[in-house]
Amino acid sequence: MNKTTSKRARRGLIERDRVFEFLIEKPTRDSLVDTGHGNILYLEDITVTFDGFKALNELTLYVETGELRCIIGPNGAGKTTMMDVITGKTRPDYGTAFYGQRLDLLRLSEPEIADLGIGRKFQKPTVFGSHTVFENLELAMAADKRVWPTLFSKMSGEQRDGLDEVLELIGLVEKVHTAAETLSHGQKQWLEIGMLIMQNPLVLLVDEPVAGMTKQEMETTAELLTNLAGERSVVVVEHDMEFVRSIARRVTVLHEGRVLAEGNMNAIQSDPKVIEVYLGS
Ligand SMILES: Nc1ncnc2c1ncn2[C@@H]1O[C@H](COP(=O)(O)OP(=O)(O)O)[C@@H](O)[C@H]1O
Ligand SMILES: [Mg+2]
Repeated sequence: MNKTTSKRARRGLIERDRVFEFLIEKPTRDSLVDTGHGNILYLEDITVTFDGFKALNELTLYVETGELRCIIGPNGAGKTTMMDVITGKTRPDYGTAFYGQRLDLLRLSEPEIADLGIGRKFQKPTVFGSHTVFENLELAMAADKRVWPTLFSKMSGEQRDGLDEVLELIGLVEKVHTAAETLSHGQKQWLEIGMLIMQNPLVLLVDEPVAGMTKQEMETTAELLTNLAGERSVVVVEHDMEFVRSIARRVTVLHEGRVLAEGNMNAIQSDPKVIEVYLGS
């Protein structure tokens, strides 16, 4: 085999490998979650019945890509049930729920939905107390089986940069080597938000983030959630009106399982329907 042929043969093999790689490459998450039409969540006519009682009653709600949305409403309005439907924990009796243009949430399992980038923060922080802030963030990243091999393998520098970025975002740079159990209530909540961010979600659902927080902690949380939006979409369920006022762009008021009103805080607060069922009480 002369030099030219062997070179050509080698090029042929490289070419073949490239085609092969292309064929077996899995679609990326972001190509699956097609947000080309501006919204990231589409809920339509979602109805959930518990023993004949409609916790959600033909709920229709859209969330824009990158938006920070606040959901308020009296106890029992269906806020948590709505999050349960989005995350696949509860299946509605009927209605449709889409994540981007193509992904039918009602056909995906709870772990699949989480893997595809819908992260949820529950009220009670679930950090690993005896581990440091750093270790908690590291564990959260390692737990993400989808991002781990693709985004971070062979890139420990980049991995570390990502972790540092999150540390800064959640305001715990100074606490990086502190055991999580010694953090304040607010700091634990931020760490847990940080752990969610380590998994690189496209949507972050946050249920009552400021319950039990001091005024100062509430302000920091408002800033954190505001900073998180844009790159991600953030949906915050919250009771505290002052907090909602401090962060809200668009507010949705739920009542009896459906949307009662939607708009900016001023419009909401002067809406007679809202005053009657929520603010007036
Ligand atoms: N698993 C369940 N079984 C029976 N009823 C439920 C269940 N989950 C929620 N509910 C009822 O559905 C309604 C809506 O609850 P929820 O979504 O938790 O409201 P919110 O979060 O707005 O306070 C409430 O009346 C609640 O009691
Ligand atoms: Mg609730």
